Amino acid sequence: PHTAVIVVAAGSGQRLGAGVPKAFVGLDTHTVLRHALEGVFAAPAAQVVIVAPSDRVGDALTEARAVAGERHDLVTVVAGGLSRQESVAAGLQAVWPDVERVLVHDAARALTPPEVFARVIDALTDGKDAVLPVLPVVDTVKRVSGDRVREPIDRSELAAAQTPQGFRRTILDAAYAAASAEHTDDAALVQSTGTPVWTVPGDERSFKITTPGDLDRARALLAVAPV
Ligand code: C5P
Repeated sequence: PHTAVIVVAAGSGQRLGAGVPKAFVGLDTHTVLRHALEGVFAAPAAQVVIVAPSDRVGDALTEARAVAGERHDLVTVVAGGLSRQESVAAGLQAVWPDVERVLVHDAARALTPPEVFARVIDALTDGKDAVLPVLPVVDTVKRVSGDRVREPIDRSELAAAQTPQGFRRTILDAAYAAASAEHTDDAALVQSTGTPVWTVPGDERSFKITTPGDLDRARALLAVAPV
């Protein structure tokens, strides 16, 4: 079955404070988006849909062509929306008719290794309709309101959600068509329609570059082991 990967890269990166949209911040000689695409193109994708800020569509296409080489025909670039959910919805509109499964990936998880893509795709091949890479939570977690601690939460029941998240295409389309509330990831949106979601192991290198400290970490990892 044909697989499309939607790479959402339309965020402003306000928390990063780099002055350019996050996906276009440089890590080494290459941008966040370029590194993310290296991982994506290592997967057996039939289509790669990049969702970029509306004034960066041309830049995203240039980045994608550099990574895709002879596979540049697989690349589609569309403009994103005001929220991540709107950006994914815009990407879904551009997925080709013959695609049967869709992976949605944050460009900000720029150093995600190819093995994670492989695990998600394998689980879909095994018949799961919705697949989420997760990591155990290492911190002790509390429920709070304001500065008051309400209760501890048993972390053995918790997992941190990463991307790429994989779905049978018909199920993701239906969930987005029915979406009323905003969800912070696609697994939550799909689960809200009653579809069970299954986990596969994520990877520490899939952390989301959000703050200046995350940017330092990504740059340090690349300096030690260039990707
Ligand atoms: O803001 P955050 O880092 O959680 O965003 C996760 C991913 O979603 C990023 O790759 C970002 O570019 C993307 N995004 C988007 N459109 C938005 C907001 C976020 O494509 N409006």
